[in-house]
Amino acid sequence: MASSSTAPAPAPPGLKEGIAGLYDESSGAWESIWGDHMHHGFYESGEAASMADHRRAQIRMIEEALAFAAVSDDPEKKPKTVVDVGCGIGGSSRYLAKKYGAQCKSITLSPVQAERGNALAAAQGLSDQVSLQVADAMEQPFPDGQFDLVWSMESGEHMPDKRKVTFFNSDWLTADAEHFEIYYQFVSELARVAAPGGTIIIVTWCHRNLEPSETSLKSDEVNLLKRICDAYYLPDWCSPSDYVSIAKSLSLEDIKTADWSENVAPFWPAVIKSALTWKGITSLLTSGWKTMRGAMVMPLMIQGYKKGLIKFTIITCRKPGAT
Ligand SMILES: C[S@@+](CC[C@H](N)C(=O)[O-])C[C@H]1O[C@@H](n2cnc3c(N)ncnc32)[C@H](O)[C@@H]1O
Repeated sequence: MASSSTAPAPAPPGLKEGIAGLYDESSGAWESIWGDHMHHGFYESGEAASMADHRRAQIRMIEEALAFAAVSDDPEKKPKTVVDVGCGIGGSSRYLAKKYGAQCKSITLSPVQAERGNALAAAQGLSDQVSLQVADAMEQPFPDGQFDLVWSMESGEHMPDKRKVTFFNSDWLTADAEHFEIYYQFVSELARVAAPGGTIIIVTWCHRNLEPSETSLKSDEVNLLKRICDAYYLPDWCSPSDYVSIAKSLSLEDIKTADWSENVAPFWPAVIKSALTWKGITSLLTSGWKTMRGAMVMPLMIQGYKKGLIKFTIITCRKPGAT
């Protein structure tokens, strides 16, 4: 259906170091206020008054993602091997390992996160099931076809891939999209390490889909995203339909996507509120400049959601083969 033979372009200079530095610096402060999940919560409207509500919402995000992808709880069919790509301090890794009794390999660019995540796994008696290591999602240190569940919770937005992908004989792409730049290498690595029949779950930040009449976002939208990207070490974003195109080009099956932007609306206001507490302010001041800069652009995330520019997106699919 599609073909591409060029090698992946290297990440923009300093991107990986910037990501590692941001999370080395900020993970301790985040954990002390928010706990071990570094991702949005999933809320009902009107929910979320206390920090306990937010923590529940973060767990609910994991459960909603698993349900959306129809991951089975059946002892015969449940995932026995999991890879957590962009794992933070391993909140999802430990949750999934416990839930399914699975073996979980987890990767992050941040040495501080890997060390902390392994310490937490040891403290919870999970050392024989969960192991975190420093590795790049774009070149995962795993052989092909290893994992029943490939999990990427809010790491996709950090992934660079400016490789040009050429699609041939496509019945699902418009002619002017024959050449375009998307997060191809990231998804193709997720697909490579998935076992035949394995489920891939990507929960990530996207920009809105373009209208048929558009070839790019509007300049004010580009400017808003640029300020967010600079602070959070994010390369250019793609849209939900770009992800669907990539998944189709890789011949992945059961491709599904949903916009959960409404369900995450209470999250950023809550993060800002927590940053303005005494504990939040002291944590920010002692964490360092990257963390402070990240805190300063938080209101832009709210703005992006309100404008309909930022889309909190889930994409799930399955690698062809045995289930
Ligand atoms: C917002 S945190 C999400 C952490 C975790 N998934 C969670 O839900 O708690 C983003 C994570 O992506 C990781 N990351 C970003 N780019 C990466 C890459 N190229 N390879 C591996 N990990 C990456 C960061 O190191 C960080 O752990």
